[in-house]
Amino acid sequence: MDIEFVRSRFIKHFDGQTGNIYHSPGRINLIGEHTDYNGGFVFPGAVDCGIMAEMRPNGTESTIRAYSIDLKDRVDFDFHDGQGPRATWARFIYGMALEMEALGVPVKGFNIAFAGDVPLGAGMSSSAAMESCFGCGLNDLFGDNKVSKWDIVLAGQATEHKYIGVNCGIMDQFASVFGQAGKLMRLDCRSREFEYYPFDPKGYKLVLLNSCVKHELVGSPYNDRRNSCENVVKHIAAKHPEGKFETLRDCTWEQLEEVRAEVGEEDYTRAHFVLGEKDRVLAVCDALVAGDYETVGKKMYETHEGLSKEYEVSCEELDFLNDIAKENGVTGSRIMGGGFGGCTINLVKEELYDQFIADAKKKYFEKYGKEPKVIDVVIGDGSRKIC
Ligand code: GLA
Repeated sequence: MDIEFVRSRFIKHFDGQTGNIYHSPGRINLIGEHTDYNGGFVFPGAVDCGIMAEMRPNGTESTIRAYSIDLKDRVDFDFHDGQGPRATWARFIYGMALEMEALGVPVKGFNIAFAGDVPLGAGMSSSAAMESCFGCGLNDLFGDNKVSKWDIVLAGQATEHKYIGVNCGIMDQFASVFGQAGKLMRLDCRSREFEYYPFDPKGYKLVLLNSCVKHELVGSPYNDRRNSCENVVKHIAAKHPEGKFETLRDCTWEQLEEVRAEVGEEDYTRAHFVLGEKDRVLAVCDALVAGDYETVGKKMYETHEGLSKEYEVSCEELDFLNDIAKENGVTGSRIMGGGFGGCTINLVKEELYDQFIADAKKKYFEKYGKEPKVIDVVIGDGSRKIC
């Protein structure tokens, strides 16, 4: 993302002065899907594309003048007026201003222009990139950088819950804030402990294929999935008053079987996927340490199967891309992120890469009249001030 590009727009749309520039990335996730809000493990990393924003206090008490460079849309609003802006992109700014203020940052009015090169709706967390970028900027401009990284992560998540309507977990905001170039992170979403894993699979490439089916979590079945998981936990907890059951992480396979009839097949099957996914992340961690990419890949295919058949967050196009990966001998492939569109993530041997990409483009075009977008993964750094 080009600093001069953002700066030129900031100067043009406001009063000619310059501000500070911040950047936050999108993310990939090797494995561990829909586990974050279930207290499980995830294995994400930041990417080298994201959101860049220029910001400057404008001397007002609480007027935010915001410009989305990509949408060519300008919205001015008072973040204390109780309603907030209607445009979704501006609600991310609104939410973060309020959440950072709630964390003790004396936020005042500011001007902001921002742009992104992380594809929207691709399941690479452009939303979290916005939240962490605005959070990083507000912390720096008004808060002497006193708010901790974890609090910025939680402010981003709260913005999704309260101002956007998606009851997401913490994986995306975490990856965007804590990412480090060349490293994936294994996060335990219950204890919030995490470890960096250098990721340099010799002889393999990690590539995303964007189905170009726009994934959209707002007002979506995403929240339904979460409700199903919580419902299962409630039933298990009622059966075991002696235990502490906060999320599916605290539940065993046997306990899930015990409540099968009462929760019904849909909720049971969803929870079944989550328990399996929790185990798969741990298996992948061991396999990575041992340099056993065949096992990593096998688990990725299992995740795809579970996301498609049990959790039901796939779509025809993603299943089609997954089949093409299998046909081409790709080591591992699966839906990445929330699902309902977006990308597959593929672990492919270098010597098979060209053939796989060519075949995927050809077959996808024949079937859907468009090519999937190819995104070679580069693991980049987390949120930061650029200048
Ligand atoms: C979205 C959410 C995350 C996570 C993933 C699925 O990206 O924002 O919190 O639940 O879906 O793993």
